[in-house]
Amino acid sequence: MPSILLVDDDAAQLTILQRILKREGYTVATVGDSKAALAAIEEKMFDLVISDMWMSSRFEGRALLREIKRNDPDLPVLIMTAFAELNDAVNLVAHEGAFYYLEKPIQIDVLKREVQHALQTRGAFSSQSNTDSDETIPDIRFNNIIGESEQMQHLFKNMSRIIHRGVTQVLITGETGTGKSLIARALHKHGARGEHPFVSINCGAIPDTLIESELFGHEKGAFTDAVTEKKGLFEVANHGVLFLDEIGDMPIQTQSKLLHVLEEREIRRIGGTQNMKVDVCVLAATNKNLIEAVRDNVFREDLYFRLNVIPLHVPPLRERPGDIPPLVNFLIQKFSTEYAGAPPKQFTPQAMSVLRRYQWPGNIRQLENYLRRIFVLSENEVIDKEELPPEILDTSLPVTDVEFDILEAGVSLEEIIKEYVCSALTKTNGQQIKAAQLLGISRRKLQHRMQKYGLHSQDFKNNTTDAVGAL
Ligand SMILES: Nc1ncnc2c1ncn2[C@@H]1O[C@H](COP(=O)(O)OP(=O)(O)OP(=O)(O)O)[C@@H](O)[C@H]1O
Ligand SMILES: [Mg+2]
Repeated sequence: MPSILLVDDDAAQLTILQRILKREGYTVATVGDSKAALAAIEEKMFDLVISDMWMSSRFEGRALLREIKRNDPDLPVLIMTAFAELNDAVNLVAHEGAFYYLEKPIQIDVLKREVQHALQTRGAFSSQSNTDSDETIPDIRFNNIIGESEQMQHLFKNMSRIIHRGVTQVLITGETGTGKSLIARALHKHGARGEHPFVSINCGAIPDTLIESELFGHEKGAFTDAVTEKKGLFEVANHGVLFLDEIGDMPIQTQSKLLHVLEEREIRRIGGTQNMKVDVCVLAATNKNLIEAVRDNVFREDLYFRLNVIPLHVPPLRERPGDIPPLVNFLIQKFSTEYAGAPPKQFTPQAMSVLRRYQWPGNIRQLENYLRRIFVLSENEVIDKEELPPEILDTSLPVTDVEFDILEAGVSLEEIIKEYVCSALTKTNGQQIKAAQLLGISRRKLQHRMQKYGLHSQDFKNNTTDAVGAL
């Protein structure tokens, strides 16, 4: 039985909420301020905290939220808020990890729904859930998705959890070409719905006027062109998976209808009078920044929060250069089956290191396209760096795994590059040709960078070589 901690300094409200939630079958503890809440959390494991945003005591809702997120990032926190504080509440959800906000006066059906949703996430992502510990979740091997990096391993773990728990709503985010569509298909294939349809729609590619009839279907005569009745994709995907690709491009009026479907799990055809229950797992994907879209009023905030309950973020390739060699091998292997009879190919370590260093703005799709080109066009079995396309060779950004660690700590890219240039110059006693070789860039590029950062070769002469560990 899931247990909930209610935090509010309004005793009357506490009693009412407690009664409602108990009737729903939850175990409910109540406390009157944040200090007591922290003490309670310390003592006992809860699955959900529902807290008022402002309380009269010194230590209010926001601070409580931060404290909880620091100790147990997986524990969902629902914030109760008055209309006047709505803006703050939205910020807490967008930036501080609150799960959702409940606007006062609290509506009972909304409360029940949000509590259910919140507990679902706890179930899906918690490693401490008392019903089902992480050890019991088998790691699924996604054979066609390559990723040895820690980031991808983490992603696979979350995918396994989503599949294991039968989660029916996920938002997949990531830059173009990172593998979002591939991941959506894998979630379908390996899940309990694998035998049922996988239906995919690109929300950006369908005219605004048609998207609703595509999604929800229409009755005969619903509009001029509706000469026969038509099933919508939600119906077609029943018991299976509906993949809403490029969800950021969905017209705003359709967004409110989608929100309704996600909340009620029922649809109504255009021109229809009956609602129909649908059992569909909705996977949505986007390469857009939805928070910005919300800010620009092109994406509904409530839909964003609803979708983002279970997010899967696919990191760009440049943040995981360690995945490049296995990806290259995998793709080359794939091409040799695709182009039967073509000789196998191999990259020299130098060529591989250039591939690792490149930023790949188009991510794996771009890598795949380049490799395919080389595979098809090159006559050599061993590919050296000279055969790589000029734009890949001409990179002035030496990216390595080490650099990524620094990046994460919030240092700007420019600073890191400067750091690298300095280290190389220090190591080579200010000899530009050697330093450029070390960095894998041309001497001209090096000089350009030195000029930019105001560095002079003579300043690096006769220095000790201690600072080169990072190289
Ligand atoms: N980890 C991976 N291992 C192997 N192949 C991958 C991986 N990630 C992506 N790919 C391949 O890269 C190509 C692009 O992937 P996909 O179409 O899934 O990207 P996307 O994130 O959906 O892009 P977009 O935002 O443009 O829709 C596909 O051919 C896919 O098979
Ligand atoms: Mg895609």
